[in-house]
Amino acid sequence: MPLDLSRRSLFTGAAGLTVSGLAAAGLSSCSQAATGTTEAAFPPGAIDPYLLGPAEGVALLSRNENPYGPSQSALDMIEYAATKGAYYANQEAAVMLMEMIAERNGVSPEQVVLTTGSGEVLSAIAVLYGPRGPIVAPRLFWDTTALYAANLGMAEIQRVPLTDAMEIDLAGIEAAVTPDTGLVQLCNPNNPTGLVSDPATFQAAVRRMAATTTVLVDEAYIELSDDPEANSCVPLINEGHDVIVTRTFSKIYGMAGIRLGYAIASAETAAAIRPVVMSWSPCTSYAAGIGCYEDQAFIDFSKAKVTEARDMVFATLDTLGLEHLPSQTNFVYFKSGLEANAVQAAMAERLISVRGQYMDYNEWTRVSMGKIEDVQRFCHALPEVIGA
Ligand SMILES: Cc1ncc(COP(=O)(O)O)c(C=O)c1O
Repeated sequence: MPLDLSRRSLFTGAAGLTVSGLAAAGLSSCSQAATGTTEAAFPPGAIDPYLLGPAEGVALLSRNENPYGPSQSALDMIEYAATKGAYYANQEAAVMLMEMIAERNGVSPEQVVLTTGSGEVLSAIAVLYGPRGPIVAPRLFWDTTALYAANLGMAEIQRVPLTDAMEIDLAGIEAAVTPDTGLVQLCNPNNPTGLVSDPATFQAAVRRMAATTTVLVDEAYIELSDDPEANSCVPLINEGHDVIVTRTFSKIYGMAGIRLGYAIASAETAAAIRPVVMSWSPCTSYAAGIGCYEDQAFIDFSKAKVTEARDMVFATLDTLGLEHLPSQTNFVYFKSGLEANAVQAAMAERLISVRGQYMDYNEWTRVSMGKIEDVQRFCHALPEVIGA
């Protein structure tokens, strides 16, 4: 298999943490070397409880995570993989996961590119395609990785306004595509709107645009949509269209901090993307992915929790008469009538974290679906925050 997973380098980023852990435990690195163990280097009390995950009492509803993850199937594999953490991940682990992803999606393993979160492969795609011409995209989309290439002077983003219903204006995007276009980037479902485009219309537009340029479809939230199979653009790749789809383990799989994502493309496109990827994933990520990729019970459980939380939020917004978009994701975009940053600050006073303002959408707030009890707190706080 023509894969190059052999690049290696040394990272020392965690050294400071280790030293403070050792200091807290009254151990020197010499005694660690002498005993050959770091046991007691991190007594639980020495770890700042806010170092990882939300601080106690904080309802974290701003980052579109799934707090019910990682699944037990992933955790078991992470625990095992951590014991092998002395070694760079074997290519066999990556290949096994690529095979699993390929089988589920009806593609071949060569068509799968694994990365450290989908953000990494999206960035790689942006630096690969950005220099070829403008990245045409909706005005509002998850633009972090296109901006990464733009910040490097390697891409220009050409934003096409949303429709009045805040949907992606597919006709407008199609009209903006020319032979000079470097890439069309679409996010379906879109972030922060949470909207899914009508599958037939979307796929027909993607097919037409892919005849002129490469079309990237970011499907980070596709598993949360009502009909993931119908909504996905993966079948278009096998039809031979110039389409790249990216997915992530950060959302429905609840592994945002574990870092694992992937792209599916033609074998040729995948081979072109692979050398531009900037790092390789930890053995714990591959192992976690292998553990949970087919864990349908966890996927169903997570989706049910998101739906339950979303219905609560919709009901609250309806009661308050606030306009909101019919999200098919783990976040809801609603119009509070107040400045989004003021809503964010008022929620923060109540230890509830929601997103601040996007661009000039100053009256729109995005709230993520977290733990049910946290979403309940948001729903109770909202009337007071908006002065209802
Ligand atoms: C639409 C979309 N795509 C991609 C990502 C990147 O996620 P990750 O790098 O964790 O896979 C995000 C993160 O929130 C997102 O919202």
